[in-house]
Amino acid sequence: MADYNLAIIPGDGVGPEVVAEGRKVLDALAAQDAELNFRYTEFSWGSAYYRETGRMMPEDGLAEVSACDAILFGAVGDPEIPDHITLQGLLLPMRRAFDQGVCIRPAYLYPGVTSPLAGKEAGDIDLVIFRENTEGEYAPVGGRLYPGTPHEIVMQTNVFTRRGTERIIRAAFEHCVKRNKKNLVTSVTKSNAQAFGMVFWDEVFEAVSADYPQIRTESLLVDRVAMDLVRWPEAFDVMVASNLFADIISDIAAVATGSMGLAASANINPEGIFPSMFESVHGAAFDIAGQGIANPLATISAVGMMLDHLGQPESARRVEAAVMRSLEERRFVTGDLGGSATTAQVGDEVVRLVGEV
Ligand code: NAI
Ligand code: MG
Repeated sequence: MADYNLAIIPGDGVGPEVVAEGRKVLDALAAQDAELNFRYTEFSWGSAYYRETGRMMPEDGLAEVSACDAILFGAVGDPEIPDHITLQGLLLPMRRAFDQGVCIRPAYLYPGVTSPLAGKEAGDIDLVIFRENTEGEYAPVGGRLYPGTPHEIVMQTNVFTRRGTERIIRAAFEHCVKRNKKNLVTSVTKSNAQAFGMVFWDEVFEAVSADYPQIRTESLLVDRVAMDLVRWPEAFDVMVASNLFADIISDIAAVATGSMGLAASANINPEGIFPSMFESVHGAAFDIAGQGIANPLATISAVGMMLDHLGQPESARRVEAAVMRSLEERRFVTGDLGGSATTAQVGDEVVRLVGEV
């Protein structure tokens, strides 16, 4: 009997709406398999909690989460609270505290989904972005001196460690070998302008690549990659980039494959000391929050990634197959994909299909 204790952090905006559908799918899998059980511990943290307490989560909150097997996360963000408070108060500290240095973000053009890029067929775009997730440009290192004065000084420092850089690059190569598609790893940097951190990254990339002679490599500048993801996204296979660059290119890749509402993300602690966290790439989506119309498929695909991580590959395959089938058949699709279904209808449809695939 596999019995998992999952931490559920729905958060803000559309987070609770899409996380509810992810849970529905987990419950359906457990109902169909006597050998599989999920227990949930829900944490009501986020902007509402901040309004009450002045914090996004309790000071010792992560201690309780650390006992769980994995985390399903919604989103954080509030139109009235600055983003650096919401993200730096919950999401980013959790990634760092649980040493979730390897973030995996697949982008696939599903059948039944229209890319905004002309002439792309299902499967044409099929890439995975590996994002360094605990340091780089998002390290909270810096400060402000003489604030508000004419001689104010502001420093924001990028942090690249050999451990963190090598870990994400090696994870990308390992995945490329396992995936066995185009056998290409693309490193994304800006070494022409950032001559310390990015040049160091290039050196580590070259050193690690020597261990994978069967894998082709390329090193591209991030502005060039922004262009190539629009003009020939089908050329990419596995991409690896720093925290900020991968954040930006994963939104481009998500929208190139049809919608932010489809892009899933796994935040992995590779050593397995702490729980890993699974979420959508998208945020709180203020413009559609509270209406029950957000696409839950990104979160449901993240649930699939979570099942794979927990050692349930057959359940993971069924979730992914059900997502794909729901898009191909288009009986229930949300507004972002040109349909008019509600969030709950799409979740119910995936539940129905999980029983068939
Ligand atoms: P966003 O990802 O929330 O929304 C971007 C666009 O994509 C919007 O037009 C939205 O309607 C659409 N979209 C997002 N999710 C969708 C879904 N499930 N179905 C259909 N359409 C969807 O990015 P934005 O607007 O930049 O950020 C809003 C807030 O979320 C900000 O406070 C930001 O800091 C926060 N944020 C939080 C993240 C997280 O918790 N992981 C990640 C990104 C942003
Ligand atoms: Mg992002």
